[in-house]
Amino acid sequence: MDAQEALRTTGSVRRFTDQQVDDGTLHDILDDARFAPSGGNRQGWRVVVVKDPATRRELAAHMQAVWNEYVAINATGRTAFSVTDVNDPTRPQPPYADVPSELVANIEQVPAVLVIGVDMRQLAMMDKDLPRTGIVGGASVYPFCWSALLAARSRGLGGVLTTFLARREPPVAKLLGLPDHHAIAATLFLGYPVHQPTRLKRRNVDTFTTIDRFDGRAFQP
Ligand SMILES: Cc1cc2nc3c(=O)[nH]c(=O)nc-3n(C[C@H](O)[C@H](O)[C@H](O)COP(=O)(O)O)c2cc1C
Repeated sequence: MDAQEALRTTGSVRRFTDQQVDDGTLHDILDDARFAPSGGNRQGWRVVVVKDPATRRELAAHMQAVWNEYVAINATGRTAFSVTDVNDPTRPQPPYADVPSELVANIEQVPAVLVIGVDMRQLAMMDKDLPRTGIVGGASVYPFCWSALLAARSRGLGGVLTTFLARREPPVAKLLGLPDHHAIAATLFLGYPVHQPTRLKRRNVDTFTTIDRFDGRAFQP
C-alpha cells in the first residue's frame, strides 16, 4: 500500500476478528511509529501494552463512565468537553445513564490495547503562556499515535484512537504506574478488522483553506 492510499483510506476500526496480534507484529508497528516527528525530536512518548484482563476491565470501567458523560452532554446540544463548554450545574450531572459501547464492553477481547503516555517535561509547548488551553504539546505525541495506526494498517490491522482515559487520569495513572510529570494522551485499540472502512467522510480542502488570511479567499488550484 502506498502512502497516499494509506492516508486516504485509514478509517477507524472498532470491531476485530479473533485473530491475535502477536508481540512481534506489535513491536514492528511501534518500531515504525517511533519515526514520528516530535518537537525538538524529544520523543517523549511512553507506551503500555495492557495485557492483564483485570487491568483492562478497570480501564473499561473508567472509559464507560466517560463515554456516558460524553453522550449525555452531547445529547443536550453542547459539545462535550470543549474548552468553551462551561459547567453549568443546571445541566445534566452524574450519574449519567449507561450508554453501551461495544468497543469498551469487549475490551478483554480486543487483540491489542495500548495506552500512550507522554513525558510533559519533554514537550515544548509554545502556547503555554497564552490565556487559553494549550494545544501545541499534543503535536509531539499524536503524530506517533497516528503513525502507529498507519503502521498497523500497512500490516493488515486496523484500529482506533480514543482519549477517554485522559478524563480519568489520576486513577488511571495510579493503576498503570504512570511516572510523575507524565500525562495520558491516548488509548489505541488494534486488531485485525472485521471490516476496514475505506470510504471516509472528510470536508473538502476549499472549506478549510484560504489565501493569505484565515478570512481570505478559499484556496483552489
Ligand atoms: C482525538 C481523537 C479522539 C477520538 N476518540 C474516540 C473515542 O473516544 N471513541 C471512538 O470510538 N473513536 C474515537 N476517535 C475516532 C473518531 O471517532 C474518528 O476518527 C472519526 O469519527 C472519523 O471516523 P473514521 O475514522 O471512521 O473516518 C477519536 C479520534 C481522535 C483523533
